[in-house]
Amino acid sequence: MISVAIDGPSGAGKSSLAKQLAAALGFIYVDTGAMYRSIGLYALRKGADLKDEVQVAALLPEISIRLAFENGEQHIYLNGEDVSLTIRQEQAGMAASAVAAHPAVRQYLLQLQRDLAKSHDLLMDGRDIGTVVLPDATVKIFLTASVEARAARRCLQLRQQGQPVDEEKVKADIEKRDWQDTHRDTAPLRQAEDAVLVDTSDMDLEQSFEALLAVIRRKAYGEEIG
Ligand code: DC
Repeated sequence: MISVAIDGPSGAGKSSLAKQLAAALGFIYVDTGAMYRSIGLYALRKGADLKDEVQVAALLPEISIRLAFENGEQHIYLNGEDVSLTIRQEQAGMAASAVAAHPAVRQYLLQLQRDLAKSHDLLMDGRDIGTVVLPDATVKIFLTASVEARAARRCLQLRQQGQPVDEEKVKADIEKRDWQDTHRDTAPLRQAEDAVLVDTSDMDLEQSFEALLAVIRRKAYGEEIG
């Protein structure tokens, strides 16, 4: 099985790129952020204190998460409900970042993530895929971009969705999430030693796609491109 681990901060373009790459390679794309978002959403709905590991851990036995791949697209089911769209809300992202700091939550998702890689060629994205989940991944990529570039992309996305945009708040939210993700004790966001660093600050989506595809082809198939 071929596994491609893509880690990096939020807003670096991981999920759009991983989706396109998976389609080009014929792999499945596993978005592990969606799993943390689903747990965050459940904890929010239950009114739990997201920072309290005991409270959040007590909810885990009530949660069943299932992934389904429909036309190559990942759908995520939380106790049978398709929450693929609901979890995209900013609130669910913040809740995900908070619950993801708890070792009990990470442990709960680890086996599910590893099992997927045993049975499929895949691209998996997240924060700790190359460092913890799939330390023997065939290809490891650390995808990043400056805070400014990521904030500009997020604002554009919001405007396209017709939503109000507060640029300062968008940037502050990204900085807050980066801090939480890189400073937690368990599986913090960091580049694996054997990961290839790709900085997309000055690249558009098309250029980023080509850069990543070249890395994957070289690492997984020994191909030299261009
Ligand atoms: O990639 P995303 O924005 O959907 O992720 C949501 C949050 O989940 C992110 O702030 C950190 C957390 N996360 C994580 O800790 N580990 C992962 N493998 C994926 C996401």
